[in-house]
Amino acid sequence: MIYKSIIRPLLFRFDAEKIHDFTFLSIKLLSYIPFVFYFLEKYFKVSDPLLRTKLFGIDFPSPVGLAAGLDKNAKLISQFSSLGFGFIEIGTVTPKPQSGNPKKRLFRLLSDEGIINRMGFNNDGIELIASRLKKKGNIIVGGNIGKNKVTPNEDAVNDYEICFEALFPYVDYFVVNVSSPNTPNLRALQEKEPLKKLLQTLENNKLQTINHKPILLKIAPDLTDEQLLDIIEIVNETKIAGVIATNTTLSREGLQSENKAEMGGLSGKPLTKRSTEVIRFLSEKSNESFPIIGVGGIHSAADAIEKLEAGASLVQLYTGFIYEGPALIKKINKAILSSKTIS
Ligand code: FNR
Repeated sequence: MIYKSIIRPLLFRFDAEKIHDFTFLSIKLLSYIPFVFYFLEKYFKVSDPLLRTKLFGIDFPSPVGLAAGLDKNAKLISQFSSLGFGFIEIGTVTPKPQSGNPKKRLFRLLSDEGIINRMGFNNDGIELIASRLKKKGNIIVGGNIGKNKVTPNEDAVNDYEICFEALFPYVDYFVVNVSSPNTPNLRALQEKEPLKKLLQTLENNKLQTINHKPILLKIAPDLTDEQLLDIIEIVNETKIAGVIATNTTLSREGLQSENKAEMGGLSGKPLTKRSTEVIRFLSEKSNESFPIIGVGGIHSAADAIEKLEAGASLVQLYTGFIYEGPALIKKINKAILSSKTIS
C-alpha cells in the first residue's frame, strides 16, 4: 500500500537507473540502523514449512526468488532475503568488470507496466563479486554467469569457465546466460552445437566431480517451437539440472508507452503470457523430465500460481517487484501457502 501510493510515485519521477542506484544505497544505509531489517523481515517474510521446496538437492525456504539483474553485484543479498525472497540470483557476472552500454539504457514503460533495458552486463567482475559472497551465510544464492563483451563467441566457453570456477565455492546453483539481447551475438550461443559444447564443458569441469552443483540454462522467450525442442534435447543430453524460462524479449507486440521504440530487452507485464507459454511447452514436451524456474511478468500472486501450474517448480521476479514493491513477495508466498493448504 505505502509502496504503491507513496514510495513508487516518488521514485518513478526520476531517471530509472539513477533511482536504482539511489535505492540500493538507501537500502544499504537502512540496514546499518539497528532493527530496521529485523522489523521489515517480521512484516514481509512468510516462513512456513509448507513453503519449503526441495529441488536439485537444494532446500529452498520459499519458491519465490529474485531474478538476475537486480542485485548483479551481490551487494544486498541479506536485505533481499529479509524481504521474503527464498533465493537470490546474482549476476550476470563476467570475468572482468565492465561498464555496460552507454547511458541512458533503462526505461520504464508505465502504461504497459514494463521495462526495456540494454544494460549490457555492467558488473564489478568475478573477483570482487566472489569476495562479497564469502559472507552470504545460509541464504540460497544462484550465480548467473556470462561472457565479457570483448570476448569473441569462439572463446566464450573460457569466460563461462572462469566465472564457474571462481563462484563455485560460494553459490548453490549456476545459471548459464546465453539469452541476454544486450551483448552482441550472445544469443548465437543458444544454437545447438555451441550450446552443447558450453554446457558439457561446465558439467565436465573437475570441480563438479568433487561436489556437484546444479547448472541451469536461461533461455529467451523468442525461441521458436523447433528451437525449444532442441533445448529439451540438449538439457536431456548434457544432463544439466534444468531451465530458467525466460529472459527478456525483443518483441514489442501490443505496447502503448512512448518508450516502446527503445532498443533492448522488454520485461514485465507484456512478457507474462509468452513466458508462461514457454514454460508450458517445455514442461509438456519434455514430459517434465527436468525442473523449470519460471520468470517473466509476474505482477500478482495469480501470475505466479499460473506459472507454477504451467510446470514451473520455482518462480522469480524482477519487474513486478519494481512496480508492486515487497508486498508482492508476501502476497505470492501467502497464495502458494493457501493453495497447498487447500490441496
Ligand atoms: C534483467 N534480466 C537479466 N537476466 C539475466 O539473466 N542477467 C542479467 O544481467 C539481467 N539483467 C536485467 C536487467 C534489467 C534492468 C531487467 C529488467 C532484467 C532479466 C530478468 O532476470 C528476467 O528474466 C526478466 O526481466 C523477466 O522477468 P520480469 O522482469 O518480467 O519479472
